[in-house]
Amino acid sequence: MGGMLSQLWWSGNPDVVNPESGLTRREIYAVQKSWIPVYANNVAVGSELLKRYFRAYPEGKQFFRMIKDLNEEQYDSNIQFRAHVISLMTSLNLAVNTLNQPEVVAVLMKKLGESHAKRKIQKKDFQDLKGVIVKMFIEVLKLDDATLGAWVKTIEFWYKNIFETLTTAESQS
Ligand code: HEM
Repeated sequence: MGGMLSQLWWSGNPDVVNPESGLTRREIYAVQKSWIPVYANNVAVGSELLKRYFRAYPEGKQFFRMIKDLNEEQYDSNIQFRAHVISLMTSLNLAVNTLNQPEVVAVLMKKLGESHAKRKIQKKDFQDLKGVIVKMFIEVLKLDDATLGAWVKTIEFWYKNIFETLTTAESQS
């Protein structure tokens, strides 16, 4: 059965662009494959990602009550910081693993937009974080151009959905 399913799944052209996500199956595969070593180290990677973000955008700290009065060396021993790192990485993991079901990803990302709108987080903050993610992936993962391109498209797909609810809520508040 598993064999039959995977045969069905893999049949057809892997370069056909899915209209909802803008991604091909080949790109999804590249993203999922490169994510495996990242998620295997999710606490270390997530913590490094947030530290880089706060270094580049210290104003972003205002949203995080648990660390706003701490210095970087103290972050990792802060349990709320670690809980947030794990929330962030688990959410990204889900969004990576469900890329073959773009309508599911869209629902997840719209919920994320709603929860972040309530915290007054704005498009700019997400764009800043995206820049840090991409830069870190280039430096640490040494991705080839095709995989990096697939990541950029993936994040754009996520953000398109996040921004739908983030900005609706922004304009209502
Ligand atoms: C793709 C990007 C992001 C993902 C996947 C993500 C994911 C999450 C998740 C899963 C949570 C906990 C559940 C919830 O409240 O929704 C959370 C909480 C939070 N996020 Fe994000 N987030 C992202 C971007 C951002 C950005 C750009 C900021 C601000 C600069 C931010 C600030 C926060 C804050 C302040 C919390 C609450 C933390 C706490 O009090 O524990 N997030 N995020």
